[in-house]
Amino acid sequence: MGFLQKLFRKQPNHEEKATEKLNIGIILGSTRQGRVSPQVGKWVKDIADKRGDANYEIVDIATFNLPFLGTSDGTEPGIVAWNEKLANLDGFVFIVQEYNHSITGALKNALDFAREAWNDKAAGFVSYGSTGGARAVEHLRGICGELKVADVRTHPTLSLFLDFENGTDFKPRDMHLDNVNEMLSDVVAWGSAFKNIR
Ligand SMILES: Cc1cc2nc3c(=O)[nH]c(=O)nc-3n(C[C@H](O)[C@H](O)[C@H](O)COP(=O)(O)O)c2cc1C
Repeated sequence: MGFLQKLFRKQPNHEEKATEKLNIGIILGSTRQGRVSPQVGKWVKDIADKRGDANYEIVDIATFNLPFLGTSDGTEPGIVAWNEKLANLDGFVFIVQEYNHSITGALKNALDFAREAWNDKAAGFVSYGSTGGARAVEHLRGICGELKVADVRTHPTLSLFLDFENGTDFKPRDMHLDNVNEMLSDVVAWGSAFKNIR
């Protein structure tokens, strides 16, 4: 392309720019009644939406009604819907809660129900627990390696004691904001890079 053509070429309009944005799913890792993950997911989405750098959406495993892997003939519509949802995402933010020093069975089951739909994408984590859910995320990082998900380093860890009232009402401290934004910046940057190799 010549210099003048480059100078005067049509700039992408707003719609075209919007379609270039990555789709990032904020995946709620818990499904139990009374869970706090929707509060944490909403907080992350509110922060993320203010950035305007990607299309962020809450992805609630519970709504897919996935069976326990291997206990059915695999024809449940939720299995297809789950894979389609993941296939349309370029990156993930996992909302991770610590159950017995690891991730929930529901999240592991959901991870196991897809393969290619996870591959060559980026992920970040926001976790909570008595020690910030750090042990659960360390397990999840190992699983991400097997699923070819590139997990970013920055990892906001929320305390059940200091960021929740009575362990149930989410009142996050402001100190986490920078970490959440740094994690999101990394997910978007890596997610963009990985889009080029898919
Ligand atoms: C089965 C089970 C095991 C748990 N084990 C741990 C644990 O090992 N470490 C921890 O910090 N919290 C543990 N907790 C406390 C959870 O982190 C806390 O209940 C949290 O709110 C769970 O997330 P949820 O409300 O989104 O389900 C456990 C909770 C459950 C239900």
